[in-house]
Amino acid sequence: MHRLGIALVGAGFMGTRHVHGYAALQAAGVARSEVVAILDLNQEVAERAADEAQQLLGRRPLVYTELDALLGDPAVEAVDIVTDPRTHAPIAIAAMEAGRHVLCEKPLALTIRGARAMVDAARRTGVVLATGENYRRGGANRLARAVLDAGLLGTVHLMREVRIGGDSAVIISKWRHMKASGAIGLDMAIHYADIVEYFLGPVETVWGRGIIAEPLRFPADGGDAIVPDGEDSIIASLRTRSNVDVQLAYLPSGPGTRFSERTVHGTDGSMTVPPDRTDGEVVVTLGDRVLRGPDLVEAVGVHLSLSKATVAVLGADGTGGKGALWSVVDSGYLAVEIDDFADAVQSARPPEVDGVGGMRALAVVLAVLESGTSGRAVTVDEVLDGSVHAYQDSIDATLAVSSR
Ligand SMILES: NC(=O)c1ccc[n+]([C@@H]2O[C@H](COP(=O)([O-])OP(=O)(O)OC[C@H]3O[C@@H](n4cnc5c(N)ncnc54)[C@H](O)[C@@H]3O)[C@@H](O)[C@H]2O)c1
Repeated sequence: MHRLGIALVGAGFMGTRHVHGYAALQAAGVARSEVVAILDLNQEVAERAADEAQQLLGRRPLVYTELDALLGDPAVEAVDIVTDPRTHAPIAIAAMEAGRHVLCEKPLALTIRGARAMVDAARRTGVVLATGENYRRGGANRLARAVLDAGLLGTVHLMREVRIGGDSAVIISKWRHMKASGAIGLDMAIHYADIVEYFLGPVETVWGRGIIAEPLRFPADGGDAIVPDGEDSIIASLRTRSNVDVQLAYLPSGPGTRFSERTVHGTDGSMTVPPDRTDGEVVVTLGDRVLRGPDLVEAVGVHLSLSKATVAVLGADGTGGKGALWSVVDSGYLAVEIDDFADAVQSARPPEVDGVGGMRALAVVLAVLESGTSGRAVTVDEVLDGSVHAYQDSIDATLAVSSR
């Protein structure tokens, strides 16, 4: 089978993790794609990633530092964009205009204007545009969705999606604390927005706000503190079109107890879903009956189906198994996402999370930020159609992409 030639664009913190995703597919004997090139503005970073790719994949990708040169390479049939978010739209649109399929890390863009321009470019050019939403790929979230599809919880009224606690350290990188480059509140809450829509369908109305809980953030290298101007926290109440209320909080701050919860509550019972990339199990409580493990898999029946790549890379239940290393589970999730993208291109079908899916998750989080700015409840449709945009204006003003 011809393997799709993919260029990795952006080889920093997450770019190298993507290399491990490709390696997991290759090691499991299910690779549909190969990394033919690596582009990073920083040549040293690109060379280092190419060395790692050579070690893991047995073949050294060509190194590029300029997008135009990369797009002139006929071996590059698709690009996997893992740069910082403010660059996603211009890189993706240039690649699509050059006839290349695109897998783009979340957040698809920083504003609806940027995301809409990407979705429009995909429609115009007919290529595949996929959004990298990795959390939903894990076995526990697949099983949780199957529980809901099977109707085991009865009529669902409430979901709680909560991550609380942290400190004043810089979270991963300084750009994650600035509004114009994609602050950590948006960067993380978008994962949870995707999970909410994956479980329950479209979010309709949003009431909430983004806040800067830690006014100073201290870098790990002991350098000067930075003063964030982007929200590190997202706190909101959402209502889905299917009439479920969702309590959403991402608050990586404060000296209190660290707390994490993903639960769903219905008329027949409740479900607890373990934190992403852990080996915890989904537990369903239906009165006196508690279902977990093989009993739960049996109860959901045909509603659970894992892709061939999922089973090959993460085992029969798609979790990586008890005690699996975090890094193995992480690259497994990425492998499944990459496999879905390559299969979508090769089978001419939409990817599981396309550009519209990525734009919707972005719109949910932007609706929280717009709600905080306007002091009223905001619908996701108002954000998607561009009629509510005050929060986004200062970001759009710094970006070149325009379509509004
Ligand atoms: N899905 C997840 O679990 C997950 C986890 C971490 C990061 N991410 C996402 O991955 C993306 C990258 O994050 P990161 O932490 O790797 O950032 P990073 O800052 O570590 O790396 C970004 C890299 O992109 C390069 N770059 C920037 N602009 C470029 C351009 N125009 N052309 C080529 N290279 C360019 C930089 O030189 C840098 O090496 C972000 O969208 C982030 O949200 C996702």
